[in-house]
Amino acid sequence: MTPLSQERRTLQRSDAESSVVRNCDARDGLAAIKEPATQLVIWRRALPSRLRDWIDRLEVSSLPEIRILIEPGELRPALEPLLDDCGLDAGEMRDLLVEDVAGLVRTFAEVTNSELVDVRLERVDHDACWKFHRDSVAARLVTTYRGPTTEWVRMEHAERALLDQKEFAGPLERLGDHDVAIFKGSCAGPGEGVVHRSPPIAGTGRTRLFLCLNQRTVVSPDPWAEG
Ligand SMILES: [Fe+2]
Repeated sequence: MTPLSQERRTLQRSDAESSVVRNCDARDGLAAIKEPATQLVIWRRALPSRLRDWIDRLEVSSLPEIRILIEPGELRPALEPLLDDCGLDAGEMRDLLVEDVAGLVRTFAEVTNSELVDVRLERVDHDACWKFHRDSVAARLVTTYRGPTTEWVRMEHAERALLDQKEFAGPLERLGDHDVAIFKGSCAGPGEGVVHRSPPIAGTGRTRLFLCLNQRTVVSPDPWAEG
């Protein structure tokens, strides 16, 4: 192979890889998950530092454990009383957190064309979902507000990771702190879905605050109703 054709081949390969896993620097870019070739879109972002510091300093006992099925416009009235119940006091920082979750719920609803969104905002201090897997959904949005972030593997290493599990020697990718990702899952079609796992944290003393958005399924709670 001549150096030129080798270079062209490398370019073609990196083009193909970049359409499978896309990075964006704005919320709008998450819509790229609708493209057939795209399996994962990552919005590389940073939270305002005062919000990040506030979340990191919260008492573990007040980190929320919430699951609701809502229309995007209902997020604030639905979430606020539940946060009160968790002992997370109202205030400017809590408003910023709710606003952030509300924005992501709106975006996910638009991207997946869903009237209702199944919202899970939960604290995680164990190794649930530590196994490499594909989600049994068409698409799922995740972000980690506190603690270690979701780990994933590129498509060419997916089968090896599923086979080797804890012995998988990599390469392993990791979302950046507060990045927002939409993963395609196995229900998107044959051969689809990005293999990933929750980071193992049991015994580290760390607690994650994790947001996961899904379309409605048979295991979703009933739709939220005021009062
Ligand atoms: Fe998953």
